Amino acid sequence: MIKKISSMAEYHQQYQESVQDPEGFWAKQAETFMWQKKWDKVLDWNFKEPNVKWFVNGKLNITENIFERNLPTRRDQVALIWEPNDPKEKEIKLTYGQLFEKVCVVANALKKQGVGKGDRVAIYLPMVPELPIAMLACARIGAVHSIVFAGFSATSLMDRINDSQCKIILTANGLFRGNKNVALKSIVDEALVNCPSIEHAIVLRRTGDPINMVEGRDIWWEDFLKGVSNENTAEVMDSEDTLFILYTSGSTGKPKGVLHTIGGFMVYAEYSFMNVFQYNEGDVYFCTADIGWITGHSYLAYGPLLAGATSIMFEGVPSYPDAGRFWDIVDKYKVTHFYTAPTAIRALIAMGDDWVTSKDLSSLKVLGSVGEPINEEAWKWYNDLVGKGRCPIVDTWWQTETGGILISPLAGITPLKPSYATLPLPGVQPVLVDPEGNVIEGNNVQGNLCMKFPWPGIIRSTYGDHDRCRVNYFATYENLYFTGDGAKRDEDGFYRILGRVDDVINVSGHRIGTAEVEDAINQHPKVVESAVVGYPHPIKGAGIYAYVTTEHLTDDQLATIEKEIVDLVSKLIGPIAKPDKIQLTPGLPKTRSGKIMRRILRKIGEGDASSLGDTSTLLDPSVVEDIIKGAKVDVKR
Ligand code: PRX
Repeated sequence: MIKKISSMAEYHQQYQESVQDPEGFWAKQAETFMWQKKWDKVLDWNFKEPNVKWFVNGKLNITENIFERNLPTRRDQVALIWEPNDPKEKEIKLTYGQLFEKVCVVANALKKQGVGKGDRVAIYLPMVPELPIAMLACARIGAVHSIVFAGFSATSLMDRINDSQCKIILTANGLFRGNKNVALKSIVDEALVNCPSIEHAIVLRRTGDPINMVEGRDIWWEDFLKGVSNENTAEVMDSEDTLFILYTSGSTGKPKGVLHTIGGFMVYAEYSFMNVFQYNEGDVYFCTADIGWITGHSYLAYGPLLAGATSIMFEGVPSYPDAGRFWDIVDKYKVTHFYTAPTAIRALIAMGDDWVTSKDLSSLKVLGSVGEPINEEAWKWYNDLVGKGRCPIVDTWWQTETGGILISPLAGITPLKPSYATLPLPGVQPVLVDPEGNVIEGNNVQGNLCMKFPWPGIIRSTYGDHDRCRVNYFATYENLYFTGDGAKRDEDGFYRILGRVDDVINVSGHRIGTAEVEDAINQHPKVVESAVVGYPHPIKGAGIYAYVTTEHLTDDQLATIEKEIVDLVSKLIGPIAKPDKIQLTPGLPKTRSGKIMRRILRKIGEGDASSLGDTSTLLDPSVVEDIIKGAKVDVKR
């Protein structure tokens, strides 16, 4: 197992070592894992193509590192606790031994359906134990999982399945989320009409809803498992074989399939989990993220399970049946480590302090934050009310593409500064650059955040289109990985993440590409064009503001168009991408070459027209006046 850093002096020493001798440093970490064959070379890399390979020619299976490596000491220790949406339903606890058996059964069932090494498997499941079981079963047989968050629409699911040509989909008849009951299978049915690569849909019965089963294609979960052995020998994989694809939004085009490979992801997931959270034997760790997002992949499933931890997965939402739900779970299982997103904290602040103060949170030792900058008010509430001032808050900065946490305090070790992600983990070499790509040296500076050296969890490619990976992350600045975030480095060398500098909006900690939302809005038959920007939102961090121009509308059409647009975006992408504000406007501010000046729209959406800058280069400057007049916020001039 990875040995944890235990003091600031040790952090500095490991950091130095990781920069001076990265290969030696990571070899030492990787040696604590179970390899079928050791690597020939620790690292091969260039950021030009890019081509990054960790633990070259090493052979392993990540699930042997979760199970065979942990079982001798943890067979009867609880690996996974499942807390259902409805608190009246019974929880499920699976020990490492029980989880292993379930993973082996599903692995064998997948094989029986003809799924093998390298095949892609779509997983579109609620937050139920079958989700991590299916994920690990894929890894066991060398299939590549592509998990799609079960809040995405049929169109989004279809795009993802088709992009990576998935052979099989694992899903459920329905799901419970708060007081909602979503008919998941009907969404799948709609998607699969246009997914020729899918041979079978395996359907778990989660709700009581009757559904339509397509003869020859659909198989009930229990039938899928029938007659299958619970013993399975792990497929021997190469360190650089693909572990999973996870789709994420960027500034242009459709979401891209971020591709992670086995060896590097594994080493980095456990290393970062142990060090950031400082997990100790007997602790109970609760990450509130859905496994459909990267946080759930790395820090609900893989990281904690590799580390032999006890990890809680929660099916529901923080407000159901009431706003005390998270804290009830903390009390029920005596949670020691709690990891959530600032948007959830802000939503709970708005519900009042009593929901927290009335609960017993004395088991808590470490609090975590992820997904977006945590504002000082939320930080203080989290620290004072939840942590009672005695639990360090780890503000963890990272991305789908980074595979694991890159900049974060180590709990109880790194000094904290509210709203600062603080210092890079060993092996992580951040730089700030100006728009021309010149590295900004020294402290008390601000710039675009890049990485100048690979860490083991770094993105390897974008599925099916390697050049997209190069263009998106490695072409903006030569020889650097560009994160898309701006950051500040203060007088102590601590990093504060300032947010996206590209056309990605961080809504409730989820990445939404403005181009994607615009494409959806533009599909409305009456819409001529649209421009989408983010604006400050008290709960979500950023809200979605859509400026839309339409053809001439009758009064009746005018009365319904906003709702139609919202419904369309929800149908084409999913409810998380619904615009919060829609402003119908006769025109959009454009340069003479036809480029939309989003900077101006962003300022107006923020309610600040005092610093619009030079608008004289616009094709028609009067458009700006019209937009300010019709703005859905008070605009200060
Ligand atoms: O803008 C940063 C923000 O979330 C983006 C990554 O989004 P995603 O790939 O969906 O992964 C989210 C979970 C890791 C980043 O580019 N972000 C993430 N964590 C933080 C953050 N912004 C500020 N502080 C953070 N701790």
